[in-house]
Amino acid sequence: MRVLSVASEVYPLVKTGGLADVAGALPQALAPHGIEIKTLVPAYPGVLDRLHPRENYGSVADLFGGPARVISGRTTSGAEVLAIHAPHLYQRAGGPYLAPGGADWPDNGPRFAALGWVARLLGLGLLGSWQPQIVHAHDWQAGLAPAYLALAGTARPATVITIHNIAFQGLFPYADLYELRLPPRAFTIDGVEFHGRIGFLKAGLAFADRLTTVSPSYAREIQGPQHGHGLDGLLRHRAGVLSGILNGIDTAAWDPASDPMIAERYDAEHLSDKARNAVILRRRLGLEPRPKAPLFCILSRLTQAKGIDLALGALHQILSGGGQLAILGAGEPLIEAAARAAAEAHPGQVVTIIGYDESLAHQFQAAADAILVPSRTEPCGLTQLYGLRYGTLPIVARVGGLADSVIDASDAALEDGAATGFQFAAGSVDALRDAIARALVLFAQPEAWRAVQRRAMSRDFSWRTPARRYAELYRSLVPA
Ligand code: ADP
Ligand code: GLC
Repeated sequence: MRVLSVASEVYPLVKTGGLADVAGALPQALAPHGIEIKTLVPAYPGVLDRLHPRENYGSVADLFGGPARVISGRTTSGAEVLAIHAPHLYQRAGGPYLAPGGADWPDNGPRFAALGWVARLLGLGLLGSWQPQIVHAHDWQAGLAPAYLALAGTARPATVITIHNIAFQGLFPYADLYELRLPPRAFTIDGVEFHGRIGFLKAGLAFADRLTTVSPSYAREIQGPQHGHGLDGLLRHRAGVLSGILNGIDTAAWDPASDPMIAERYDAEHLSDKARNAVILRRRLGLEPRPKAPLFCILSRLTQAKGIDLALGALHQILSGGGQLAILGAGEPLIEAAARAAAEAHPGQVVTIIGYDESLAHQFQAAADAILVPSRTEPCGLTQLYGLRYGTLPIVARVGGLADSVIDASDAALEDGAATGFQFAAGSVDALRDAIARALVLFAQPEAWRAVQRRAMSRDFSWRTPARRYAELYRSLVPA
């Protein structure tokens, strides 16, 4: 079966968050199921350099204001990619979505409409020789792909859209309808219209044959007003074709026993080797060398939704319990400033690194004893899964994929050996303090802590099970 995956980022070509990890890993996980996936991605600066070998796949004379070529190639991990080389849209300094000053690119409408449009051309067999039987769009940036295909009024491939985060919807003014190549008849409540504007995610959710999201809990949550961001009504209406599939992780890229980015490799039988990573990280970050102190970490986009303010609000609980905290992240300026201020107030005990650093992220996971993931909402979350794999016990809000992946160390769960971390009521700083206190109590009992670490490390969060679910979903649309 041939599937075109359409994503605005894919590891290891371009990554700002978990979407890239998922879009990068899923194709390889589906190969054993006889599913051949090519991933369509914009050629931002640097993307083409990372593809080998590179070949011209086809060209588009006018892709939203300029000519474009589609280049096929492979990533270092072997994934097949079709990259849209459209310099007028993608070749510019800055991020995939944000201009250097931090504001959205003013032409994000056409930039990502172009992604959907090329998916449409490929899907209809109008570009190149490889025609997918399914087009699988990810998030709002690819949301117009299912809409363009449904509106083409001709035989088309089946379509799937996966919601990685419903808070980002890609909303653009009605006046852009013509420029975005959408027919006026599509601007209705069961089409692309969302409160008077054009919604890219809305369009995908309205037109795709199947809708998925990245955890069972989030699939339920987004059907309600608190997490639905105005799309809950539509999702309830389409509940029959909506499912939640918990993400897997790339267990080769994230493996403490072979990770080339960490100082000392270890496994569940050699947990004392993990401590060496903490010694080195403390030295590197300028934390006081206190080998017996529990080291907590935060590794996250620094945004309101990620609940970083809650973690800073609970900082006293960590410090008074003798712990240290290392923060790595970037995001909203006010939250970055608060994280910096916490480090300045507690030199040697709290450290904040503002920035994005893939190998430091691995070193954090290898070194820390616990990782805080206090999100107010979390579709899946990957850092708690990496934490479990690295024996870095997650302290997570009971929400979305966090609730689905971590088993709270309640007395009962500790007794029967099921516990893998700590959960607390999302949004509550008191509940987070309590969870940190429980973690400190457990940490003070090394044997008990180690047992939970071993249990966490033994859980299977590979892509095996989720890949089977996606394969079943695809086969329900295109029987063999
Ligand atoms: P989201 O996609 O909402 O940001 P996820 O937990 O799904 O959250 O994925 C985050 C991904 O980004 C993980 O791979 C994590 O390791 C990585 N990450 C987040 N912040 C940083 C950072 N500052 N430096 C390096 N990697 C980061
Ligand atoms: C989004 C979500 C995150 C999820 C990731 C991959 O970025 O915020 O929870 O893990 O997508 O699906």
